[in-house]
Amino acid sequence: MNTGLSKVNFAGMMTSPDRFAPIGVFDSGVGGLSILSHIHQHLPAESLIYVADNGHLPYGPKSSAYVTTRTRTISRFLIEQGVKSIVVACNTATAAAIATLRNEFNLPVIGVEPGVKPAISQSRSGVIGVLATEGTLGSEKFQRLVATHGESQQVIVQPCHGWVEQVERGELHSELTRTLVAAAVEPLIRRGADTLVLGCTHYPFLASVVRDVAGPTVELIDTGEAIALELQRRLHGLGLLADAARAGEPGFWSSGDPGPLSVQIKRLWPQAVSVERLPEAFR
Ligand code: DGL
Repeated sequence: MNTGLSKVNFAGMMTSPDRFAPIGVFDSGVGGLSILSHIHQHLPAESLIYVADNGHLPYGPKSSAYVTTRTRTISRFLIEQGVKSIVVACNTATAAAIATLRNEFNLPVIGVEPGVKPAISQSRSGVIGVLATEGTLGSEKFQRLVATHGESQQVIVQPCHGWVEQVERGELHSELTRTLVAAAVEPLIRRGADTLVLGCTHYPFLASVVRDVAGPTVELIDTGEAIALELQRRLHGLGLLADAARAGEPGFWSSGDPGPLSVQIKRLWPQAVSVERLPEAFR
């Protein structure tokens, strides 16, 4: 079967797609685990490699050029590991670099973007709030998304200062976290938003606090499961879905200090894992 993938990859080597090859998933930190868990659940036979680029976290306030450079570097590492597909489990990196990755690398690259479209179709008040990083909200890709789907509704954007750092510290329910969440969410509720988009992969870990602050009638939109299903659809279409027995736990890599990252992952991932440090060329 011609999958369209047997071309030259970045290293100039011929690659032949292998359905038992791993899938690479990455984010600036632990946020992408909110996507990885859906992939693990829906595609249990797949081997997974997860990279947390926590030596360069947060991506949100950094320039698009910086995030693109890191995103290309991590993708090169994943391709060296022989992955058959890459999931950019980060809205900020997707906004900055997905087009570059798709141009440069000859394998399926799945990205994640704020769920503006589902939010608009669910909203009754006609006002939706998009919670995301400055990088995502300021990107051309996001502007286009709102222009395409948001015309008939009021789309209010809200950068969420400190949220990513609180998730990275494992402070999912602390007083400070609650204060930071309230500072971002309450103004949206006051303006009539009845649907909030969790437009950063770190934010699903704060969903219960967001719900507490927003109140029971407000809908939260998290696209993690949709991304896993999209990946499944793409791999199936290319004849690249693994169909063996359940694979083991994902392999975890870090561009920063793997010690603290192991502790953070332990809080957010159900199984014990070990984390390796990325080779120097990729840090
Ligand atoms: N988790 C990332 C996202 O989805 C970015 C967090 C950050 O590093 O600022 O946007």
